Amino acid sequence: MERIKINNLLESPQFGEQVTVKGWVRTKRGSKNVSFIALNDGSTIRTVQVVADAEKFSEDLLRRINTGAALSVTGEVVESKGSGQSSEIVAETIEVLGEADPDKYPIQPKKHSLEFLRENMHLRMRTNTFAAVMRIRHNLAFAIHKFFNDRGFYYLHSPILTASDAEGAGEMFQVTTFDLKNPPKTEEGSIDFSQDFFGQPVNLTVSGQLEGELGAMALGEVYTFGPTFRAENSNTSRHLAEFWMIEPEVAFNTLKENMDLAEDFLKYVIEYAMENCKHDLEFLQNRELDAEKNLPKEQKHEMPLLDRLKFVIENDFERITYTEAINILRNSKPYKKGKFEYDVEWGIDLQSEHERFLVEKKYKKPVIITDYPKDIKAFYMKLNDDEKTVAAMDVLFPGIGEIVGGSEREADLETLQKLMDEKGVPQEEMSWYLDTRRFGTAPHAGFGLGFERLILFVTGMTNIRDVIPFPRAPKQAGF
Ligand code: 4AD
Ligand code: MG
Repeated sequence: MERIKINNLLESPQFGEQVTVKGWVRTKRGSKNVSFIALNDGSTIRTVQVVADAEKFSEDLLRRINTGAALSVTGEVVESKGSGQSSEIVAETIEVLGEADPDKYPIQPKKHSLEFLRENMHLRMRTNTFAAVMRIRHNLAFAIHKFFNDRGFYYLHSPILTASDAEGAGEMFQVTTFDLKNPPKTEEGSIDFSQDFFGQPVNLTVSGQLEGELGAMALGEVYTFGPTFRAENSNTSRHLAEFWMIEPEVAFNTLKENMDLAEDFLKYVIEYAMENCKHDLEFLQNRELDAEKNLPKEQKHEMPLLDRLKFVIENDFERITYTEAINILRNSKPYKKGKFEYDVEWGIDLQSEHERFLVEKKYKKPVIITDYPKDIKAFYMKLNDDEKTVAAMDVLFPGIGEIVGGSEREADLETLQKLMDEKGVPQEEMSWYLDTRRFGTAPHAGFGLGFERLILFVTGMTNIRDVIPFPRAPKQAGF
């Protein structure tokens, strides 16, 4: 008999029909006469209840059915008498496809800490929490493609191996086929990369933006969506060494239109998740409420997860300049009382404590900060008329901090060259990039959304390592 997915079965149960379901046992309970098996196949967070009459099945078979075992079950769909269940299956045949020894299988039907599950990363998607996060991750990725496709953007595949450092921050992983014990040397004694695989030093990309700009100047509106790599040694709950970034780049857009695009985009994908991941989001909301139950009020979220998502969709993001942000911070209570760890003055890079104050205390909603000092931003950002600031924008989210970073790009060749010189970005190697300004240059703008930071916000999870299947971070690269 053809298998039916549990999600389809629960969405539109055909009472009286014979069906086959396959999945993994979440729990088994019952008495001598009857066993109730909760079966999950990953298609939904919900389980279907399988009723196994002891008369129909041998003791030996029932003994082999434990949490984690894989089963194939055929039986009749009946209306459930139990509460919270619409339908259940009265089993006719049960095949144990694979056992899970309860003395050895780490995932048991009890609360496991996230730390424990991080240590058992290869199995953690078998828990409700991680399966929910991964389904939401999928839906957000799909919504991102849908948003851009519906607006006529083209998905541009930027390279993963590249010779350029797009952000100029020097946080790159180098890639080589050399034997590190014995690399070829030049006459002067330095490593001879002309003999390496690519004939030059190559690294994993930190951003697809510069290639995105090449695409935008031909196709008009493009976006990249791929893995990016940063060798920054920040062991935080917001940083990964390998993360996914979405980078739209739009010809003829200015900073204002760039902000509008980012705001529409974020609202769209969050709303998509709310509409398409209801059960998973409700589960995560309850999980969070439960986890925060015994915390003091100041440590609890002010709103439950779904209300927070709704709030972001329904309210305009606050838009302020960097200079305004500095003034607000210097006039704030925590600043005056010396509560900030880092000093605040014009020119500093905003620290997470400053961003959190603006987003969580002052405005209590997403904030877009624009026009940062040019000295703390990348070389490609458009220089403003004051020649001190650039047309940058960072979108800050409650509980997350920076979720999006972007800008209008410097479209004037000479100004761009000056900015590159100031920041020590080599022009010869970037000649291909400068050609966008040499031939048919035009205003354009774009931004990068950190995919995992978006997932953190949507799921309410608090550690970025818990929203990617296999996190890569300092001293962590298992599987
Ligand atoms: O602000 P960033 O560095 O901007 C860029 O890379 C630009 N080239 C984007 C563009 O304009 N096309 O990174 C963009 C976003 C950040 O706002 C953050 O959400 C995320 O990428 N991000 C990280 N996420 C996880 N781990 C890290 N180590 C991250 N670094 C940046
Ligand atoms: Mg940034």
